[in-house]
Formats: sequence, structure tokens, C-alpha cells
Amino acid sequence: MSEFPQLRMRRLRRTEGLRSLLQETRLVPAQLIQPFFVCPGTGVERPIKAMPGQAQRSIDRVVAAAEEMVARGIQWTILFGIPEKKDALGSGAYSPKGIIQEAMRELKRRLPRLGIIGDVCLCEFTDHGHCGAIDKGGAVLNDPTLELLGKVAVSLAEAGADIVAPSAMMDGQVGAIRRALDATGFAETPILSYAAKFASAFYGPFREAAESAPSFGDRQAYQMPCPNAREALREIELDLGEGADCIMVKPALAYLDIIRAARERFAAPIVAFNVSGEYALVKAAAQAGFVDEGRIVREMLLGMRRAGADAIITYFALDYAAKVASW
Ligand code: PBG
Ligand code: ZN
Repeated sequence: MSEFPQLRMRRLRRTEGLRSLLQETRLVPAQLIQPFFVCPGTGVERPIKAMPGQAQRSIDRVVAAAEEMVARGIQWTILFGIPEKKDALGSGAYSPKGIIQEAMRELKRRLPRLGIIGDVCLCEFTDHGHCGAIDKGGAVLNDPTLELLGKVAVSLAEAGADIVAPSAMMDGQVGAIRRALDATGFAETPILSYAAKFASAFYGPFREAAESAPSFGDRQAYQMPCPNAREALREIELDLGEGADCIMVKPALAYLDIIRAARERFAAPIVAFNVSGEYALVKAAAQAGFVDEGRIVREMLLGMRRAGADAIITYFALDYAAKVASW
């Protein structure tokens, strides 16, 4: 009875009811995290050219967008900031008056149940655009940057971050941040480590959106080389050892094998970051009429879930909750 013609795989595909009942992987809005770009001012909503539908928003506009998002079942956001001014040590990232700190306090006041992830990095706040302090020759200094990242994490926790997410790719950053949080009364604040963050061309639109492109050189001396999978697993293992509560793989689409390998090897929760360039490609093709956006988005995000991601950071979160009929 286990062969054709008795066995027919098509039986279970025949109706929408059967397909839906037996769907192996699902993606519900509760598993999505919507990023926002926060800029100074009020009433500002400046569209990002390469990311149709996304904008740099002042705090009041972020609150409005977050209200819509929560109404649609998306419960989490991650914030990126465009500060008024930048300096060599990225002090805007750990100032109590920083743009992200102000935004977090306001969001928590208006939407107390919204989950907020704070990105722990310096590149949006340094005048040179690198993710850490640099020496005279422009090399990014690992160890002196750790103390700064600890300060960023504590400052974000004080402002109301529910999770801090270090993305600078400095060695030892997770341990340094854990110690800094524990020493300041934030032992309960979880760390979502951007453990496997590749040096990727898919970040292109983000750097326009966050005005964070390095003014010289690139990030290849700290972010991971894209051909390396075993190295990604070592990074993840180290970060878990330093105290990461959950881990991230970024970008997502070209790195589904990393998500899958991490899923098989580690029990920790995995978050995939469906990055700006992945969003831009889909939007451009959809606007040209080449693909069906809703179906493409569903298929891509389900692929990340199938690979093993528990949650996904994606600029499509709001669209998905609003428009993708079949989860
Ligand atoms: C920087 C950071 C980057 C992203 C999130 N945090 C990119 C970078 O390395 O320049 C990328 C997000 C995206 O492309 O959507 N620490
Ligand atoms: Zn950075």
C-alpha cells in the first residue's frame, strides 16, 4: 500500500482546507520584529529611496507607526537612530538624551506592552561610521570598544529596552555587556547577540537609511567573511559561552544554511535578520510588476522559519500582518 497508485501525494494537496490543516511551518505576526529609523524633529517622515514604504521618522511618527503595528499583532520593534551630531567615540549612543533613549522612553510611555530591542553599536553615532573606536591609522580597536558597548547597553536598558542586541562584531562584546548590565542592576535584561553577522552587500540600503556608511574602508576586518559557515558556528558557540540568551544570523536569505546548522547544533532561540537589501530587491521587482509581492514575502519568510528561525526581524513585518492573508 505504500506505492503508486495506492499512494497518491496529491490527495492531501487537493483543497485549501487540507493544505492549511497540514501546513508544517507557520509564521504569525507575534514572531515578527519591525525595525524603525528614528530621527530628530517632530512630524518628520522622510522616505528612504531604496526602501519603499520605510522612512526616517521623528519620535512622534515612530509612535504612530508603532500603534498601527501593535493593532495588527506585531509586538516587537528594533530601533536604529540618526543622531543630531556624531563624534569619534559615538557618544550619542550612550547619552541619556540620545535619540534612541528618548524614543524608547516615549514608546514605553505610549505603548507599555510594546517590546523594544536596542541595537548596541556605534556606527550610527561615530563621525567615521565604524562600529568601534579607531586608532590614528583608522583600524577599529577591539578592546577599548568593549567598554563603550557596555555603556551603550546599560544606557539602553535604563531607557527601557527589553532586549539589547550587540551588533558591532567585537571579540568579547557579549561578555563585556553581560558584566556591565549585571553590575548596574540589569541582570534580567536579555542579550540577543548578532553572533553570525556577515560583511554583506545586502546592508547597502540600511546605510543610506541610518546614515551609517563608513567614511573610509569597510567592515571586513570585523564582520564575517561570507563564504564561512564553520566560522559562524564558532562565533555562535563563543557568544553563548559569554552569556548570550539568543543569537542572530544576518543577513537571512543567502545564509539559510547557517540558520539550519545553528538550529541543529544549539538549543538557544534563533532570530533571523531579513536585512535592508533583501527588502529592496523584493520591493524593486514588485514595483516593476515582475513578481507578486505578498506571495514572495510569505515564501521568503517561511523559508527562514523552515530553516530554523524562531523569530524574524523584517521591514516587511507590518505589510505581512496587514496583507498576507494566509499565514
Ligand atoms: C550596524 C548594523 C547594520 C545593520 C544593522 N545594524 C549594518 C552594517 O553593518 O552597516 C544592517 C541592517 C540592514 O541592512 O537591514 N551595526
Ligand atoms: Zn555597527
